[in-house]
Amino acid sequence: MSNLQPIGFFDSGVGGTSVWKEVVQLLPHENTIYLADSKHAPYGRKPKNDITQLCVKNTEYLLSRGCKLIAVPCNTATTNSISYLREHYDVPFIGIEPAIKPAALNSTTGKVGILATQGTLSSELFNRTQRAFTKDVNTIEIVGTGIVELIESGKKDSEEMRNLLVGITEPFMISGIDYLVLGCSHYPYIKDMLQELLPSRVKIIDSGAAVARQTLHILKEFNLLNDQTSLGHHELYSNLNTQVLDLLTVEVNNRKVDYLDF
Ligand code: SIN
Repeated sequence: MSNLQPIGFFDSGVGGTSVWKEVVQLLPHENTIYLADSKHAPYGRKPKNDITQLCVKNTEYLLSRGCKLIAVPCNTATTNSISYLREHYDVPFIGIEPAIKPAALNSTTGKVGILATQGTLSSELFNRTQRAFTKDVNTIEIVGTGIVELIESGKKDSEEMRNLLVGITEPFMISGIDYLVLGCSHYPYIKDMLQELLPSRVKIIDSGAAVARQTLHILKEFNLLNDQTSLGHHELYSNLNTQVLDLLTVEVNNRKVDYLDF
């Protein structure tokens, strides 16, 4: 395995680009390939076996392109399928999990909100993490029904999104949370709107930076860090609509966005 080989990413759509950008910022010399499986979004409403099959399909493609490490910036895919992927493939996998631990440790009201998909909230891995870190706090868990679909169709800043979020955030307003954990990689794209709707004391946290730090750590551990001095190149593929993927990643240099039937 050569350290010049790309880092692979796959997500149930465009949301994982929020995490991909953190990785590119921390590791600017790495080459990357990103798969937006928008055709099958949202993963969060699918049964575990279907999610795993989709993860296998994405992984096989990234391996066929010689990826040296695979990041799965999709909470639903990580919580349901990462153990299977680690058991069946030799390449290192980086997953993403809701940042429950820092929220629970820093909460002063003792009330922490978690916004995630049904698939994440009902997963065994999520429930284990939740039990381990929230003994001293109450958690208010809400399924973000409809948010992924609106982001996938390019409506992250729309009035439709605002109306949806007014309803979704109501239980958080009533319960007096001081931390809101974003448990889906699409949700950083609505962070500003959520912040406007929630009281200013509520801190909203996601896991993108933690995934980037973990990617750096694993690349070093496996001696796979790209030591080139030039900036990395990035290939981003969607199997549905490249327009939203293009718009959300426009600020990153050396990138090529294309349609791919996978
Ligand atoms: C989904 O596909 O339902 C959302 C992706 C995620 O859980 O991060």
